[in-house]
Amino acid sequence: MSPRGEAPTTQRAPFIHPFFVMAWLALVGVAAVPRAFGEAAPVAEAPSGRLHGQPRSPAVAHKGAIASAYPLASEAGQEVLAKGGNAFDAAVAVSAALAVVEPTSSGLGGGGFYLLHRQADGFETMLDAREKAPAAASRNMYLDQAGNPIDRSSREGPLAAAIPGEPAAFEYLARKFGKLPLRASLAPAIRLAREGFPLYARVQGAIRYKRDELLRSPDAAKVFLTAEGAVPELGALIKQPDLAVTLEAIANQGAKGFYGGRVAQDMVNSVRAGGGIWTLADLASYRVIERKPLVGDYHGARIVSASPPSSGGVAVVDALNILSGYDLHAVDSATRKHLVIEAMRRAYRDRAVYLGDPDFVKMPLPQIITADYAAGQRTSIRTDKAMPSDMLPGIESEPMGTDTTHFSVLDADGNRVAGTISINLFFGSGYMPPKTGVLLNDTMDDFSIKSGTPNAFALVGNAANAIAPNKRSLSSMAPTFVETPKGLMIIGSPGGSYIISMVLLGTLNYMDGMSAADIVKYRRYHHQYLPDVVDYEKGSLTEAEISQLQAMGHQLKEGSRLWGNMEVITWDYATGKVQAASDPRGEGEGLVY
Ligand code: DON
Repeated sequence: MSPRGEAPTTQRAPFIHPFFVMAWLALVGVAAVPRAFGEAAPVAEAPSGRLHGQPRSPAVAHKGAIASAYPLASEAGQEVLAKGGNAFDAAVAVSAALAVVEPTSSGLGGGGFYLLHRQADGFETMLDAREKAPAAASRNMYLDQAGNPIDRSSREGPLAAAIPGEPAAFEYLARKFGKLPLRASLAPAIRLAREGFPLYARVQGAIRYKRDELLRSPDAAKVFLTAEGAVPELGALIKQPDLAVTLEAIANQGAKGFYGGRVAQDMVNSVRAGGGIWTLADLASYRVIERKPLVGDYHGARIVSASPPSSGGVAVVDALNILSGYDLHAVDSATRKHLVIEAMRRAYRDRAVYLGDPDFVKMPLPQIITADYAAGQRTSIRTDKAMPSDMLPGIESEPMGTDTTHFSVLDADGNRVAGTISINLFFGSGYMPPKTGVLLNDTMDDFSIKSGTPNAFALVGNAANAIAPNKRSLSSMAPTFVETPKGLMIIGSPGGSYIISMVLLGTLNYMDGMSAADIVKYRRYHHQYLPDVVDYEKGSLTEAEISQLQAMGHQLKEGSRLWGNMEVITWDYATGKVQAASDPRGEGEGLVY
């Protein structure tokens, strides 16, 4: 969420002994041999939801819980649970309600990742509902004749939009995992769209920020601006009658109500008229892909998180593997933070270099998420010195960030969902096809539009994340379950590239016994390999820690904003106590019922 300072451009003298670099390079070399790339995409086995001989969580939770970024969305989920729905029905209700009441962040025009755990048989899976590139997309579509990125072309307007995945996820969740028909789980969202919700400060701020783009899309302007094109007052009712009709089409016909018929035709006509490249076939062929979640282990905790095409789980597990070689409680607080930063640096570097859509690229994941690889990475970490990122072989970069949303659900049977969904930047592409009420995403910007050119989150990538027809862009979303013999945490957050470091810190804090409320409140620090800067929230580092980290060679930058909107549920098996907490940086609500 935090706009960041400019990337450091000056080369600094290396602080570290060449031996460490050589050792590290040797390991990278091992990971990069062609044979490694020839292996099938990774994914630890997870279907049983029980690895490492851990006991399964208790059969019945004393209580269910929902944490989401806005009270009306948490309440929509609760309403559906009260109607007899399970966590998966509630996930549909919460997602759809968020599409209405948090239109900046996710919606029918976007996509995301749903991590599911079914308690009856321990089955775990990830629904990949990530947007896919249209079939007519091409690698250099956002570059000019000279090969330079065309300003904002992957972030604004219909050409920036990939084919949405969220409506397909609704049908998939309801049909395969839910107990209720879509008509029931979408009812609260339809009502909210029709009756309106009172404008609140965060959405008002986003409208102000994106006003020019919204004005370019008459239907978006009609919903989010006054008749005079001004930003509405706080408390003004935002009604979305066209969105209500589109939601009703999905409620009645399932995904076909969105990917076919009148809604699809309206979207394709207007996207193409506006310079986009969607076809009806792109929409009709969209499918949710069920993928095995990424599974890791950290000091006996089972970490279950998003697998590619999100980098979220890989990077969190990569960083935790590195950290598992240290006793973080045996060192002073500055050293602890230094080690966490060094783990972040390496995990984000691997993200940039190796990851992409598993259906298009071979990735050395079996290596990246192993203990041996982490041991190799640790050989390049000194406990008293920062390692400049330009000492790691990789890619070049710069900064920035905005919106997305996460929710966590646990039902009274112990079923659970961690869902992170998005339209990418505030209001996505800002484009709303007429008569649909659907704001289209700008997720094409999550591709590496040119090797080494940073995206909106200053993330860099290479060929692994290059644009290709029907490919899904690499995400940082990290819906995650952390399970120890004592209890469970369901966690996730928006924040673009910051998601990974937030979930990493949240996991470390949970392992240290922190409550859900303290985990979401925790002041955060972040390093993403490039730019080579530790971005920290005010209050996350003490003066003493700042001096110590600077003395180690870290470049520190206090962020000008708070970032993240984390939604956490914890469940203590011994006491049955369930806690749901929403990040105090936002206005969300954690409900335990
Ligand atoms: O998939 C991703 O990683 C991004 N599209 C997420 C965007 C995001 O979290 C914006 N939030 N602050």
